[in-house]
Amino acid sequence: METREWNKCYYEDCLPALKAFPNGYFDMLITDPPWKTGKKSGWREKKGKPINMKDIDYMNYPVEWHLQWITEARRIAKIVIFCVPLKDENEWTKMVDPKGKFILYFKNGFRPTKISLRNSYSPYFTCFDKPPKIKPLYNIFGIVIKAGFLNKTKYKNPSAKSSSFFKYLIKGFNAKTVIDPFMGSGYTAEQCEELGNVKWIGFEIDDKNKPDVEKRVAIGKRAFLKTKDKQKVLF
Ligand SMILES: C[S@@+](CC[C@H](N)C(=O)[O-])C[C@H]1O[C@@H](n2cnc3c(N)ncnc32)[C@H](O)[C@@H]1O
Repeated sequence: METREWNKCYYEDCLPALKAFPNGYFDMLITDPPWKTGKKSGWREKKGKPINMKDIDYMNYPVEWHLQWITEARRIAKIVIFCVPLKDENEWTKMVDPKGKFILYFKNGFRPTKISLRNSYSPYFTCFDKPPKIKPLYNIFGIVIKAGFLNKTKYKNPSAKSSSFFKYLIKGFNAKTVIDPFMGSGYTAEQCEELGNVKWIGFEIDDKNKPDVEKRVAIGKRAFLKTKDKQKVLF
């Protein structure tokens, strides 16, 4: 059985690591995977690499590889939530056959152009083995998260997202143990730390993200202490 420390990001390929966790080890797997599925026709190839994407080397994998991590995700976590880009929604829907799906408005800030300031939307897929005993969340509309250069705090990872939405999901599903296999700048870790009573484990293949993850973990811890202080004042 896999023994990993909680509240730690491991800088390695997540797939072998996922395979080593026992069934149902985590309450929730929440992630923002590398989106591309090995096709040669994406905007990235047509238009050249956008400036902010130049550091990302690990975004393009074949469908078979995605199916492997998704199978492992469903095996080791009771609830699996991940986002995919609008452009590839149909392809991912066929591939994953999600039990639930909700739409998340998403301010796309990848590129510093007018286009990037338009709202686009990104579907979030939710997969449950056992549906949680809470109101379904997949009807949520209109939550705007900020990505890329629109994020107020600057992170090295060009796909960095603002994260209170993820906190809402973790809290809403009452998850106490969370894994994020594609940690990026570490929004999942930030939110688990902020909630205070949620243990997390992250994987990220590219250790260039380490300073981002450390920054976000520290932000989460500070936010938790602030709420604790507020509670002390109130009671
Ligand atoms: C879409 S980004 C995640 C961004 C994240 N949501 C954030 O807010 O920063 C996907 C991440 O998966 C990482 N990644 C790609 N292949 C991986 C693998 N095999 N194992 C672990 N991480 C991987 C990439 O380096 C990238 O940082």
